[in-house]
Parts: sequence; structure tokens; C-alpha cells
Amino acid sequence: MIKPDAVENGHIGGILDKITSAGFKIVAMKYTQLSRRDAQAFYAIHKERPFFGELVEFMTRGPIVSAILEKDNAVEDFRALIGATNPADAAEGTIRKLFATSIAENAVHGSDSDENAAIESAFHFAGREIF
Ligand code: CMP
Repeated sequence: MIKPDAVENGHIGGILDKITSAGFKIVAMKYTQLSRRDAQAFYAIHKERPFFGELVEFMTRGPIVSAILEKDNAVEDFRALIGATNPADAAEGTIRKLFATSIAENAVHGSDSDENAAIESAFHFAGREIF
């Protein structure tokens, strides 16, 4: 996902350019807005965290871009491309270093395993939307 902060700040194009330049193929993509129920379900794993309420508010406050990306070693390579959760700790040239503003408003989300990538892909897309 390209999160609401990055959309608000005009970074959709810059982020997609970094992604495709790094060799990822976009096999599904949509411009949409999460409902509260969507955000609570997507981030259910974090529901006991102190920042959960803030996270749901943030993720629902405006549109996002969701996409499914394909590449060898995609999960690990995408996590390297986006950088650390906190942009203050993210390496130079990473998407979060370039486009994120804080640990909460960190511009992008990437799946943390192939298993979660499949679950998260099914959350955002119907089969006929995946190419
Ligand atoms: P993401 O990789 O999408 O996974 C969980 C999200 O919770 C994370 O990016 C941030 O947007 C948010 N998050 C993580 N840690 C914190 C924190 N300490 N305070 C606020 N939000 C956080």
C-alpha cells in the first residue's frame, strides 16, 4: 500500500517509479480508501498495540494505492527497498527515507512473508483484478 500521507504529499508517482525501477512487476493495482472496518481487519495483528487507534485513524483518513507486486524474492527485496519502519532509521535511497515523515506516517506498507502477502492480496483484490 501507498499510505494516505504519501498520497496527500503527491508521492504516488515517485514511489511507483522506485518500485518499477527496482524490477517489480505490478500485477494488480487500485486507488481506494479503507473503511474503519477494513483498517481494523487489515491490521488486526496490531490490535493490542498502544498505537492501534492512531493507526486506524491514519489509514482511513484519505485514499491509498494498493498493489500486488511480483518479483523473485519479492518480500525480502521490497522490504529492503522501502527501508526501516521508522524513516529516521531507514537507509539512504529507500522509499521511507525519501518519502515518509514519521514511524506512524511511513508512506508504504509491505507484506512481511509470502504467506501474509497472499492473505493481504486477497484482502485487497478479487481474482479477476489480478493479472
Ligand atoms: P506497517 O509496516 O504498515 O505496519 C504497522 C504500522 O503501524 C506501521 O507500518 C506504522 O504505520 C504503524 N506503527 C508502527 N509502529 C508505530 C508506533 N510506534 N507508533 C505509531 N504507529 C506505528
